[in-house]
Amino acid sequence: MMKLSIKDIGFDGEGVGRVDDKVCFVRFALLGEKVEARTYQINAKFVKAKLINIIQASDKRIQPPCPYFAKCGGCDFQHLGYQDELSIKKEILLRQLKKLGLDISIKVNASPKEFFYRNKVKMFSTEDGLAFHSAFDNSLVKIKKCLIASQQINKTVELLSQFLQKHNLLGKTEFVEIKEIDKTIVINLFVKQALNADFNDFIKDFDCKIYIFQTENKQPRFIVGSDSCCRYAPNSFQQVNDDVAALLYQKVCSFAQNKTIANCYSGAGILSKMLLESGAKKVFGLELGQSEHNDAQSLKKQCKLSSMQNIQGDCAHTLPTIKDKVDLIVVDPPRAGCSKRVVQSINDSSAAELVYISCNHASFARDIGRLNNFQLDQIELFDMFPKTANFEIFAHLHRI
Ligand SMILES: C[S@@+](CC[C@H](N)C(=O)[O-])C[C@H]1O[C@@H](n2cnc3c(N)ncnc32)[C@H](O)[C@@H]1O
Repeated sequence: MMKLSIKDIGFDGEGVGRVDDKVCFVRFALLGEKVEARTYQINAKFVKAKLINIIQASDKRIQPPCPYFAKCGGCDFQHLGYQDELSIKKEILLRQLKKLGLDISIKVNASPKEFFYRNKVKMFSTEDGLAFHSAFDNSLVKIKKCLIASQQINKTVELLSQFLQKHNLLGKTEFVEIKEIDKTIVINLFVKQALNADFNDFIKDFDCKIYIFQTENKQPRFIVGSDSCCRYAPNSFQQVNDDVAALLYQKVCSFAQNKTIANCYSGAGILSKMLLESGAKKVFGLELGQSEHNDAQSLKKQCKLSSMQNIQGDCAHTLPTIKDKVDLIVVDPPRAGCSKRVVQSINDSSAAELVYISCNHASFARDIGRLNNFQLDQIELFDMFPKTANFEIFAHLHRI
């Protein structure tokens, strides 16, 4: 056990102090605090330590509303108010920009819902119920209620836990994904072998639409559910906070008027459709995932979007194949950011403008640094993930 003073905040929102000649990261410690912590990971340049006791608390520290906070690994910030959480996120993004030599103001868009916003959870089976990963290792923390998941998802977790336990199916289920899409619940049970149970018994307690899938060997199979079809395939990408996704998409769409747009990493096509509804001339949706591409094709057909062209494949290969003169490129890559080839294609393209959406400030900063032919002129933070250290970035760049 050691005592240390927290002198800074790290890029993942953790407290940072020094022990001997090394930097020490203490998750859940706040700037200005004096704490006791126990080392659990030692690297060449830094150590990670677990917060054991607060000797002198920050005046920003509040009582976390969630009883599992700091045990469950899902949240980083339940121990300070929302405005202070947003200030830390803004500071992290400002620091990334400063490293690039950029001095630009950042508009912060709070989430309309601070709690109960998540429309998706992934939970693991324990002997007596469903659980999240712990904050410090791979052990599991069984939870009764998650304060960031939607109320409907919480209800589903409770009923599903009871059903799986009653029918002795917890040990046969590896993990479960539960999503809420347009007031519909989608459950995907990841199993080694097909479960032998009548889920009709389970769904009768729901007053909303519900679909249940089982996934063996990465293949989701529909097993029971309401009569009509759901908007996304169960394994398609979905933004986790509907309200903030709507605000973010609205911002992107404000640049759509009269433009031919390459929408890279386009997912299930929702943003492509909105860009067209906002006046874009034509939108190319470039998406690698088969199920997301299929969803985008269904959306195109269902909404008769003749100016939407969906191309399946790695956008490193598909972006340079577009023959039309593209005015605006939109990218919304996964956490790893854009590959060097994608960055090169963007630099070499005809596009005068670029919108970069990112859920990872580190890969975002790296890519902005590589986009030599573009200059950043607008940046906004959208708090897609309240109570966690993650956030979404919107950036607009123009060709120089
Ligand atoms: C962060 S999501 C964004 C999806 C979409 N823009 C939305 O808002 O729903 C990233 C998407 O990129 C896709 N993807 C990952 N690597 C890709 C690649 N190399 N080329 C094209 N799409 C890719 C993923 O399947 C996923 O749908």
